[in-house]
Amino acid sequence: GKDGYRHYMEKELHEHPLVIGQTLQRLIDPATRRVVMPDMPIDLASVPRAVITACGSAFYAGVVGRYWLEEIARLPVDIDVASEMRYRNPPLTPGSLGILISQSGETADTLAALRGLREHDVSILSILNAEHSTMARDSDIVLGTVAGPEISVASTKAFTAQLAVLACLTIATARARGTLDEAGEEELVTALLDLPSRAAEVFTRMDDIREMARVVAEARDVLYLGRGSAYPVAMEGALKLKEISYIHAEAYAAGEMKHGPISLIDRTVPIVATIPSGRLFDKTLSNLQEAKARGGRLLTFTDEGSAARLQGIAEQVIPLPQVHPFVTPIIQTIGVQILAYETALLKGTDVDQPRNLAKSVTVE
Ligand code: F6R
Repeated sequence: GKDGYRHYMEKELHEHPLVIGQTLQRLIDPATRRVVMPDMPIDLASVPRAVITACGSAFYAGVVGRYWLEEIARLPVDIDVASEMRYRNPPLTPGSLGILISQSGETADTLAALRGLREHDVSILSILNAEHSTMARDSDIVLGTVAGPEISVASTKAFTAQLAVLACLTIATARARGTLDEAGEEELVTALLDLPSRAAEVFTRMDDIREMARVVAEARDVLYLGRGSAYPVAMEGALKLKEISYIHAEAYAAGEMKHGPISLIDRTVPIVATIPSGRLFDKTLSNLQEAKARGGRLLTFTDEGSAARLQGIAEQVIPLPQVHPFVTPIIQTIGVQILAYETALLKGTDVDQPRNLAKSVTVE
């Protein structure tokens, strides 16, 4: 049942801290603060390239994974949505690692992409919530997300669990490839182990998020902006808003705004920005200032450490809990997902069963 929550989505949002913790528990030894991968029939040290593919939210988790694997493990990554990957026929480097991501393990396009990669001497590592699914049977390695059943059509907790697995895979790959030393690994693992309690603190910002939802619910179009690993979080936020509130939303890499979408900006198109502390904070801030100069209303998700720098610039500043820059996409995701939920409540839509959508897309 819904355990007293109004919707499964609300219940599942509240399960973020738990499922992140359970998922990490499988892959981290808390005593040594090291990632422990199951035995794998592939050598992460010598994999020349990774190919990531998935659909919808799972694809956005994959985009975060690309930023992590490239930056931290220095592994070249190709990524595309499965409906394109399956027909693209890309030239694949033999011995590449295919990383497939799916909550259900039954998504037709992702399964077809998996089978296509298999024909090219690509090992298949699948990150799945349904560990006994069709995709599980067709994979060389399954890394489970311990999210439990997800009933709401809009994916929430499965997404952060996917990120938790991708974070551990990144650390293991980086260690194998010699791009992360022991101290570096301990730092990143500590950041991950800190997540369940920080994720729980996001819910202390509910009043702020509801206030933001009141602005978003009045809009016909919303622009989501982010850079680096906060960009796929913006994409996830925009998808969730469209899906359950039926408000048109689009995500852009913040630096791309001046190449077109800036012409849309006025008072009626609010901008939701994911702008955590870190290397790209200043770059994102200058993009937001450009938007503000054109009359844009800035609604921002940042963290405690950078909130003061947005005061007086942004109309709304939500300081999410402070975490290591590596794991900011996980905390920011919870913020944008709650925003979509609260906006849908104001719009009075059928949150758990949005029109025209099915939980599992088993046809092309
Ligand atoms: C969005 C959503 C969908 C799924 C997509 C993939 O909230 O739920 O975009 O993420 O249909 O589904 P799975 O993960 O089952 O392959």
